[in-house]
Amino acid sequence: MTAAPGADASSGTFDTVLVVDFGAQYAQLIARRVRELNVYSEIVPHTITADEVAVRSPAAIILSGGPKSVHVDGAPLLDPAIYAAGVPILGICYGAQLVAEQLGGEVGRGMRGEYGRATLERIDGGSSSLMTADLPEHQPVWMSHFDAITVAPPGFRATASTPDAPVAVLESDDRRIWGVQYHPEVVHSPYGMQVLRRFLHDLAGCRPAWTMDSIIDTQVRAIRDQVGSARAICGLSGGVDSSVAAALVHRAIGHQLTCVYVDTGLMRKGESEQVVETFRRHMGIELIHVDAGERFFERLAGVIDPEEKRKTIGELFVRVFEQHTGGVTDADYLVQGTLYPDVIESGGSDGTAAVIKSHHNVGGLPEDMALSLVEPLRALFKDEVRRLGHELGLPDEIIWRQPFPGPGLGVRIIGEVTPDKVAILQEADAIVREEVKAAGLEREIWQAFAVLPDIRSVGVMGDERTYAHPVIIRAVTSDDAMTADWARLPYELLERMASRIINEVSGINRVAYDVTSKPPGTIEWE
Ligand code: XMP
Repeated sequence: MTAAPGADASSGTFDTVLVVDFGAQYAQLIARRVRELNVYSEIVPHTITADEVAVRSPAAIILSGGPKSVHVDGAPLLDPAIYAAGVPILGICYGAQLVAEQLGGEVGRGMRGEYGRATLERIDGGSSSLMTADLPEHQPVWMSHFDAITVAPPGFRATASTPDAPVAVLESDDRRIWGVQYHPEVVHSPYGMQVLRRFLHDLAGCRPAWTMDSIIDTQVRAIRDQVGSARAICGLSGGVDSSVAAALVHRAIGHQLTCVYVDTGLMRKGESEQVVETFRRHMGIELIHVDAGERFFERLAGVIDPEEKRKTIGELFVRVFEQHTGGVTDADYLVQGTLYPDVIESGGSDGTAAVIKSHHNVGGLPEDMALSLVEPLRALFKDEVRRLGHELGLPDEIIWRQPFPGPGLGVRIIGEVTPDKVAILQEADAIVREEVKAAGLEREIWQAFAVLPDIRSVGVMGDERTYAHPVIIRAVTSDDAMTADWARLPYELLERMASRIINEVSGINRVAYDVTSKPPGTIEWE
């Protein structure tokens, strides 16, 4: 795994901090915190060598936490030559233990361990470079370790401890290496960001230049350099990534960019109008709006199997996209909203390979397209992309849009997809989203939507017996869609949704709430 983000994010403009990944996803949060402190960061594998570090000439290195003990066979180590390279280093948790172990200190085995909150106490008389004088004598910190450092290496001072970590902070100003046993990157360590700031800005001297303004400037220059006077096309889905990518590229090359929005007829209520309104009218971006609903419904007639449905929608999407970009014959570039986590997860790349989101068959474009990729968000995390979108003038509805599957409402209608069913689901879904928003829960909930199953049940309305479809409400919390928990929506909110759906959407006589987590369920129903 290498993670050069391409697109020249760091090329001389920004000081770079390398966050060395020792596993278990600690590195991403650290990398994001570094950027919140306005310093550019990149995640690199722990197998990185001193020579590879030298090539990147980082301003600092942070060793992340990790799930292993330094004592087990095959525990990941750092190339020892990196400690001698003179680049300031901060070890966090496992990273701090590695510093101790590899530089001649001691890490105790089989100690009691600490998980959760602990109180960090400064060691008497020890002045600390990392913990400035304004930090209290005792501070709460978040711990997650089994082994603990018992003896600091030669040349290091222990400047703080906790009840079960005798050396909870270790420092060597001469070697420019520091270590903290706790997790400064999590919110449960309230002084953690101050310690990270002190390390980055003061001890390592990183310039706090990673700001939205400078990201925009750098990317605009990089896009202009890459594209020159050629033409670029961008497939818009209405989602945050492709929207921000398009807005940024438009800022750089204006009318050399043409966006294509394929309306599959399977979008949510009002979504297509909003994309057209935002991009064409509000941002003045050249937009081809392909109203392809009828073609999709024709092809979906009689299709029931979920996989066949996805395939049908995906294939037609590609065909329609190709037909309509065929008109932009002189385009040499294709804009994609690939983000940094996509780059890390796909094993990184040298910036030339086309990283197409493979899970997703719609929005994934033909692999044989003879276009070079422009990926202006390759270096950015999702929260940065949202801030960037805001700076570029995109509306909140787009910036905070929930994830929406490429096959759209097609995979939320169980059984055959017809225009009538889509119309029913659009209305019910709009009510779910409106009510979640009105309850102020929009940003806490990962996705909230309605599903239309292929069953009917008996009900009563007025004096009439009804035999109609139910709607299932699905609302989940999640960090990354890999796992999810059903959202504990307030009963009043569920009641409002249910009564509005039954009263306002004809064809629905019952509402159910899905209380399945993922696993064993998936977020979508198909
Ligand atoms: P599941 O249903 O697998 O969904 O738990 C995980 C996340 O992925 C989204 N999803 C898709 N996104 N094309 C997409 O672009 C797809 O085919 C697709 N299927 C699922 C889903 O909405 C959830 O956020």
